[in-house]
Amino acid sequence: MKVFLLAMFSAVLCVSCGSEPKTPADELFLSKCSRCHGSQLALEKKKTYEQWLDTIKRMENFGLEISGGERKSIAKYLVEKKKN
Ligand code: HEC
Repeated sequence: MKVFLLAMFSAVLCVSCGSEPKTPADELFLSKCSRCHGSQLALEKKKTYEQWLDTIKRMENFGLEISGGERKSIAKYLVEKKKN
């Protein structure tokens, strides 16, 4: 019975096991870039690092609030995402 309960418990805990674990970079990107449109809009685009910096600056005209360091992290993150 104990084993059965334990199995049930881990099955419940494992509801989110299918999705990949989120890194701090994922969290930053999602928190900054999925407010006005889906994150998919950015994830499906392929741009260079400089193009991403320009795109993110354009997003700031729409009202995005972001620091210089965060802008660079997200640009780097999006370039890396398209490498695989
Ligand atoms: C304040 C609202 C807002 C936020 C926050 C925002 N965007 Fe946007 N984004 C827009 C609007 C509005 C458009 C459509 C108009 C356009 O493309 O100029 C857009 C379009 C886009 C596009 C498609 C056009 C293109 O240049 O390829 C991409 C990619 C994009 N956003 C990426 C991002 C990324 C990356 C972030 C986070 C750093 C972000 N957005 C955050 C408002 C926002």
